[in-house]
Amino acid sequence: MAHIPMRMSPKIYWVLGASLLILVGVQGLSPASTDGSVGQTGLPQHVAIMMDGNGRWAKAQGKPRVFGHQNSMRSLNEAIEGCIELGIPYLTLYAFSTENWTRPTEEISTLMQLFTTTLREKLGELMQHNIKLTAIGNLTDLPTPCQEALHQAIQTTQHNQGLHLIVALSYSGRWDITQASEALARDIVAGDKQLSDISPDVLATYLSTTGIPDPDLLIRTGGDMRISNFLLWQLAYTELYIEPVYWPNFRKEHLYQAVQAYQARERRFGNVTS
Ligand code: FPP
Repeated sequence: MAHIPMRMSPKIYWVLGASLLILVGVQGLSPASTDGSVGQTGLPQHVAIMMDGNGRWAKAQGKPRVFGHQNSMRSLNEAIEGCIELGIPYLTLYAFSTENWTRPTEEISTLMQLFTTTLREKLGELMQHNIKLTAIGNLTDLPTPCQEALHQAIQTTQHNQGLHLIVALSYSGRWDITQASEALARDIVAGDKQLSDISPDVLATYLSTTGIPDPDLLIRTGGDMRISNFLLWQLAYTELYIEPVYWPNFRKEHLYQAVQAYQARERRFGNVTS
């Protein structure tokens, strides 16, 4: 059997080292990610999250459903911090849907109180991290203290240049498309727009998300595989990622895994690959 020398020449070490550096450079490892495994190239610009599974998480522990909502703040922090660390510019959170108003009164009341106190208590942290907060949805449906806390947070953070955090409250995709259609129809009746102006691009400017790029990646926790009336228009070509863990168990690592899965996808937008 041929003898293979174990000692390599300094030149070989140099070539190996240079190759490794090139590989790392191509991969673009993010120094900010906890495990260093998320590449900085091909990051989603907008991540949307359906924070589902709070009720099931609580029930699994023999607790009332609201216990799940009350224990969801760490997950919220981790999702926000994870996006900041990766340099993702937009994060949309589905916090309360139009259909959620049909839930038991006690659960709705707990959620509204939770939104209000969280918005008040976290305002300092939003400022500290340069986060700009906005909201989408039929916000006039919300109780007055919640509207006030929301308004205060939106006003205070409006000039921040960091992560743009969009909270969907009393939101549904059908509501959004309906209100956009109504606003466009009003402009046509008023003579500010013509029937011939109607196009997907024009209608999109009337949606509550105007100016915000469509989500690249949608993460739904809790394992269910449906859109549940979320950003129906905006999700046309969004990559879907279903995470089995319930929302109170969601951590940065789950976000990183979703982003890695996204980076491995081929997005064709209805086109063909060459
Ligand atoms: C869905 O789980 C979760 C909600 C309806 C509430 C989500 C809200 C938060 C996590 C608080 C966010 C706070 C701010 C300020 C943005 P579910 O109750 O439908 O759970 P299930 O599917 O197990 O029943």
